Amino acid sequence: MPPLLEKHLRKDLLRFLTCGSVDDGKSTLIGRLLYDAGLVPDDQLATLKADQLKRGLAEPDLSLLLDGLQAEREQGITIDVAYRYFSTEQRKFIVADTPGHEQYTANMVTGASHCQLALLLVDARKGVLSQTRRHLAVVRLLGLQHVAVVVNKLDLLDYHQETYRQLEEQIQALGQQLGLKELHCFPISAVTGANVVHRSIHTEWYEGPTLLSWLEEVEIQTSIEGEPLRFPVQFVSRPHQDFRGYMGTVTAGQISFGDEVLLLPSQADNRIKQIVGVHGEQPSAERGEAVTIVLEKETDLSRGEVLVLKKEEPMIVTDQFEANLVWFGDQPLRPGKRYELRLGTVAVPATIKRLLHRLEIQSMQELPSPQLERNDLGRCELALEKAIPCDRYEDLPATGSFILVDRVTDNTIAAGMITATASRQVVWHQGRVDKAIRSQLKGQTPKVLWFTGLSGSGKSTLANALEQRLVELGYHTYLLDGDNVRHGLNRDLGFQEEDRAENIRRVGEVSKLMLEAGLIVLVSFISPFRSERQQVRELLDPREFIEVFVDTPIEVCEERDPKGLYKLAREGKLPNFTGISSPYEPPDHPELVLNTHQNSQEENLKHLLNALRLS
Ligand code: ADX
Repeated sequence: MPPLLEKHLRKDLLRFLTCGSVDDGKSTLIGRLLYDAGLVPDDQLATLKADQLKRGLAEPDLSLLLDGLQAEREQGITIDVAYRYFSTEQRKFIVADTPGHEQYTANMVTGASHCQLALLLVDARKGVLSQTRRHLAVVRLLGLQHVAVVVNKLDLLDYHQETYRQLEEQIQALGQQLGLKELHCFPISAVTGANVVHRSIHTEWYEGPTLLSWLEEVEIQTSIEGEPLRFPVQFVSRPHQDFRGYMGTVTAGQISFGDEVLLLPSQADNRIKQIVGVHGEQPSAERGEAVTIVLEKETDLSRGEVLVLKKEEPMIVTDQFEANLVWFGDQPLRPGKRYELRLGTVAVPATIKRLLHRLEIQSMQELPSPQLERNDLGRCELALEKAIPCDRYEDLPATGSFILVDRVTDNTIAAGMITATASRQVVWHQGRVDKAIRSQLKGQTPKVLWFTGLSGSGKSTLANALEQRLVELGYHTYLLDGDNVRHGLNRDLGFQEEDRAENIRRVGEVSKLMLEAGLIVLVSFISPFRSERQQVRELLDPREFIEVFVDTPIEVCEERDPKGLYKLAREGKLPNFTGISSPYEPPDHPELVLNTHQNSQEENLKHLLNALRLS
């Protein structure tokens, strides 16, 4: 093979996204890149020259190279993302350009799903704006590890080194805070071409690469090695009775003739009979290829189903997940409202169950918030009307990202990236259901709150009130109370020391089971002996056990005597009564000490919610 041709074939492809508004000089920058790299066709060069002469400009107006798009937009044709292709000796490039002034984040997110790198523009005169911070945060959410920050318009500041250095420092600090791995800043003037393709005599203090050479060199991971197959069916083609093909694009991994596949969500199995690409039948297809697939067995597969390989890790099919959202809606995000969720080729009604946090752009901190406003970033829990196959964005971006659409206006109001899936796929994937999955499904951290104290100290009243409050807040609970358990499970036990020990042992085991079920368990037992309480503590994970000592003095309990038991005990009619004829050993290091004779119930509840970290 001729060496040049070989080189051409080996050339890899870099897809990058540009972010920044027209004012930042984005069109001029891309125009400059094409122009200086000698990639502008002759006819367009002639048009540029003519325009330059006519307007008497010192330099050609390179933004015109991208003007076709602008004109279409002005005619009201909506273009969310425009793709531009160019190619140098070293590499092929696809630029996802997202035109528009205000809709920057919306388009960025839509444009980014296949990109490996982001190019972000900063106007050197304006410095780091909140828009820049937002762009960087979005870049991070999109999982783009490589970022080129173009500090543009330096010519207007006489290529002032100090200004550039300060900006660079600030941008690098932001990148670090966000955890962006590779961020490179460039001192640039798109208008004069400084450091775009050629170095500039005005910036001799800059020793790094030019933008183009960096783009040509930067190392990107594109291997499909170990990536599981995802083939979302886009369209069922049925040109005649005897042919049924499923058209779509392989979004991850690869598929070959003869592969055993599963169709999701239906779980039906099948085998690949034929793969047809643009040039006819082919033995296999990999990520990025659009093909038609014919299956061995007749099936009623429809748009929205995903083909996966049987031998690979099962793909999650779920109706709940947690996701990062970029909110574009004019109306703020409202938990509880129904939207349409579109993920790949599927559309399904979805509700935002809970907003977990909002990213505060100035401090880059994740803070609790009642809502998300336009252009806010945050994380939430979503519930879908039916289970769909999906992935975590981090693992497979194409099947891990989605948009939310307002069902009335049909406007896209958010883009989302799945961070965790609560799986309802448990029926077909047994053995995997564990405490983590159960509690994730319930949206809570399971805990055992162990109330100990004398009879009449107020344990049960408090535990009851707390359970009510928790349920109102949407948590899943269970209350184990001595008086009740002694009627059933522990009917055979009395109040001798051994019986009390056995009572507590059993209840400890039961609460452990309930904890495994993902519940918040409230246990209200006198549990007078330290050693038995200690045994329960050891049975559980230390972070899951909260010992609450209800420290009401015996005089107060006796005064209350709700069941008349103290009176009976004093009269000698009730043997082994705790506090009178049987000891009570107060805890040495309880997580919480409450009392019901001085504190109000509301105060006690506050402490309890605090201890559960739910306040
Ligand atoms: S524990 O000591 O074994 O933890 P548990 O909480 O199950 O006791 O049961 C206590 C309840 O049993 C009391 O609230 C009371 O109503 C009733 N009870 C009956 N006899 C006694 C007794 N001798 N001592 C304490 N509680 C008793």
